[in-house]
Amino acid sequence: MAVEMEKLVSLCKRRGFLFQSSEIYGGLNGFWDYGPLGVELKRNVKEAWWRDMVTTHDDLSVLPGAPSAYEMTGLDSTIIMHPQVWKCSGHYDLFHDFMVDCRQTRKRYRYDQVRGRWVKLGERRIFVTTVAEASDEQAEVERKALKFFKLRPKQADELVWESDFIALPEVDDLSQVLAPDATELGTLTEPREFNLMFKTYVGALSGEEGAAFLRPETAQGIFVNFKNVLDSTRVKIPFGIAQIGKSFRNEITPRYFTFRSREFEQMEIEFFCHPSTSSDWYRYWRDRRMQWYQQLGLAGERLRLREHAPDELSHYSRGTADIEYAFPFLPAGEFGELEGIAHRGDFDLRSHMEGKLDEKSNPLVVQLDEHGKPKYRGSGKDLTYRDEATGERFIPHVIEPSAGADRATLAFLCEAYREDTAPDDKGVMQTRTVLSLHPRLAPIKAAVFPLVKKDGMPEVAKDIYRALKKRYNVFYDEKGAVGRRYRRQDEAGTPYCITVDGQTLIDNTVTIRDRDSLEQVRVKVDDVVEEVVQRIEQ
Ligand code: GAP
Repeated sequence: MAVEMEKLVSLCKRRGFLFQSSEIYGGLNGFWDYGPLGVELKRNVKEAWWRDMVTTHDDLSVLPGAPSAYEMTGLDSTIIMHPQVWKCSGHYDLFHDFMVDCRQTRKRYRYDQVRGRWVKLGERRIFVTTVAEASDEQAEVERKALKFFKLRPKQADELVWESDFIALPEVDDLSQVLAPDATELGTLTEPREFNLMFKTYVGALSGEEGAAFLRPETAQGIFVNFKNVLDSTRVKIPFGIAQIGKSFRNEITPRYFTFRSREFEQMEIEFFCHPSTSSDWYRYWRDRRMQWYQQLGLAGERLRLREHAPDELSHYSRGTADIEYAFPFLPAGEFGELEGIAHRGDFDLRSHMEGKLDEKSNPLVVQLDEHGKPKYRGSGKDLTYRDEATGERFIPHVIEPSAGADRATLAFLCEAYREDTAPDDKGVMQTRTVLSLHPRLAPIKAAVFPLVKKDGMPEVAKDIYRALKKRYNVFYDEKGAVGRRYRRQDEAGTPYCITVDGQTLIDNTVTIRDRDSLEQVRVKVDDVVEEVVQRIEQ
């Protein structure tokens, strides 16, 4: 059963996972802060990705499904780069959404996200809209139509609905459109392009000379460093360069908690390979990335892999798949993107080498200047690769698994949240809220409690706490009834609680309680660290 979003949002605030940015000043739409528990959770998501994809990657073996062995390396490039990067990548000209403004309410909407239906009352015919992703679109437009025509709910039968829901771009005449929050007709402007990159100015130059952009993706930092990585390491194709870092997009309509934010983190790999093997590598990465989410707990039906249809693909791409999750805030049956895995051919390296050339090499980006010359010149640097064994020189193909750290964190939270019943310390069944996070992701790995604050129990518990603290983020708590302490940890997603009790003073054992099964086993004090390590790293 899907978690009710309000409950999760409230837990995130109450327990310090997520706060609205600048909340004391009323917040800033599209920006989120991670609190003490949230920062640990998100760090663990990124750490799991980095370890699994990069540092513990076995480059000596051929992994299941892989065409051959391969190497992985990392990078940390800057957020602000040379403006030419974005011209050659296509972001400067093409990274935009269309928006419409409402003259009455001064609200701005993404053009393709305004949806509605034609409705008639007598001779009067209007197009009533709502924003896409509204939970009950029909109820919403009906309410608005009734209000517009000054009818009561019981007169709803008088409305004649003429079309199914269609998106605003399918409507030619905006004069009969009732904007999502307006009370008058025809208040929407014609659609306008809106580039999603945040602009800033570098140094003391405030004019266009100093204009630069906050990166909208980490990927370009990898492409422009391709040659540096090759020249400074002994990596050979096939290999991947991974990067985790902040990206910024001035989204027109940020929404759904952290799902669509204006500042977020990406975890991206650019995997370079020979063109003849790129389709095999595409399939390998698609499946490998899907398994990663499954292994960390998104194992159910709410996760799916969706291969793009040929007409959805960019002209240079031989395949793109999205890993999607049925986030509970989406309408029933809809999925939201967690990660895209794209076969990008040689598009990016070629663009940074040669610039945007002509219609033929890049039909979607016609970027010739008025003299028929390339509009943007590339770096002019040689970004080809020479295979030492065969002597062949080629522009490598790229497979790009591109994930969002915030979306992954949100999906893990949604999947982990549940409510069940468990006995309190008096054996009475109580409802408890649990975050069943994978132990690798849990912000606190273990909590240590003395049953009571006397008889030497706190001293033993503190020793266990200190020993565990050397490896993990652990928590010590001696306040209140032990049942309440357990429940606080269940809510925080702590997989193990270790309790020092009367028996400890007799046989030097403690209990370890499992968050999910509620099973408690006794373990010798000297074996506690080993036991916790084994359980977390199993
Ligand atoms: N380099 C390719 C690229 O950036 P993308 O599909 O635009 O592709 C990749 O972004 C991932 O980044 C998405 O699957 C999503 O997880 C995350 N992402 C993109 N825009 C986001 C936003 N506004 N808020 C949060 N995460 C976002």
